[in-house]
Amino acid sequence: DRRPRVLSGIQPTSGSFHLGNYLGAVRQWVALQESHDAFYMVVDLHAITIPQDPARLRESTRLAAAQLLGAGLDPERCTLFVQSHLAEHAQLGWVMNCMTGFGEASRMTQFKDKSAKQGAEGTTVGLFTYPVLQVADILLYQAEQVPVGEDQRQHVELTRDVAERFNARYGHTFTVPRPRIVRETAKIYDLQDPTAKMSKSAPSAKGRIDLMDDPKVSAKKFRSAVTDTGTEVRYDPENKPGVSNLLVIHSALTGITVPELEEKFTGQLYGPLKTEVAGVFTDWVTPFRNRVLEYLDDPAELDRLLARGAEKARAVASVTLRETYDRVGF
Ligand code: ADP
Ligand code: NA
Repeated sequence: DRRPRVLSGIQPTSGSFHLGNYLGAVRQWVALQESHDAFYMVVDLHAITIPQDPARLRESTRLAAAQLLGAGLDPERCTLFVQSHLAEHAQLGWVMNCMTGFGEASRMTQFKDKSAKQGAEGTTVGLFTYPVLQVADILLYQAEQVPVGEDQRQHVELTRDVAERFNARYGHTFTVPRPRIVRETAKIYDLQDPTAKMSKSAPSAKGRIDLMDDPKVSAKKFRSAVTDTGTEVRYDPENKPGVSNLLVIHSALTGITVPELEEKFTGQLYGPLKTEVAGVFTDWVTPFRNRVLEYLDDPAELDRLLARGAEKARAVASVTLRETYDRVGF
């Protein structure tokens, strides 16, 4: 496969993906499997940096995989797997821990943010070194590009630094990857507070569209989306964040451009826009949700697909690990 190799991961802890996860990330993954040799994983090793209930973690890992398949990842065209199914991540992770400076790791802003939330006693060493596990995740597959949001750029920079250091010390072993910053083509905002990003960590789920909810519940959320006191359907994120968010969602799901939508809704109030977005979403999510439920209803088939994905991943990962161990003297 001569297509450029990409690698990306998603945490299983979300439960249902929300519309922001889909439009901001997962949809790009689906597009990239055509043009790239794409490796995608559900990063359950990363999930336990914060305490998890075992039964729920197991369930949400399967749910994440089923949602990725339902969204259109095709196991024939990409490599989809669960991180913990390969011992190689933890094994290379240890070597990378020994290649990373303590000060270097201490500068990771995601760690500072996340550990601030956990408090000193709640912060695990795993949370501290999770960016280093990410280094191993990426280098194991010799990924050339890492599609990430801006918030993960620093971790890809760390990966580059560690890869270059290893290559300089032991001889060329790793592809030095570059970040492929996914400019959130569709950054989606909370329907009740359209100045805040739609997020699983939002204090309330009232403004969040969870893809696995009953579509009727989501349609109702769209119909009661917060807008403004004006009357004109116009894209103006500054003054009309709620209306603009609805236009972006409509456009992302239908491919109709925002100016075309403004034209279409000329002379109409916000009500018809909300109703139409609710309909557009329902039409998209219903078949998506049915596909996900089908995967969940057939655990043997899901297991088979994930085992096959792990096998494809291992074919690459084991070669990298063996070479690395050889270089360091194991
Ligand atoms: P959350 O913010 O809900 O915790 P994650 O941080 O797990 O979501 O994000 C998973 C992926 O979804 C990331 O690539 C992130 O950039 C994308 N994403 C999350 N929320 C949004 C949003 N509101 N709009 C667009 N993309 C988003
Ligand atoms: Na987040």
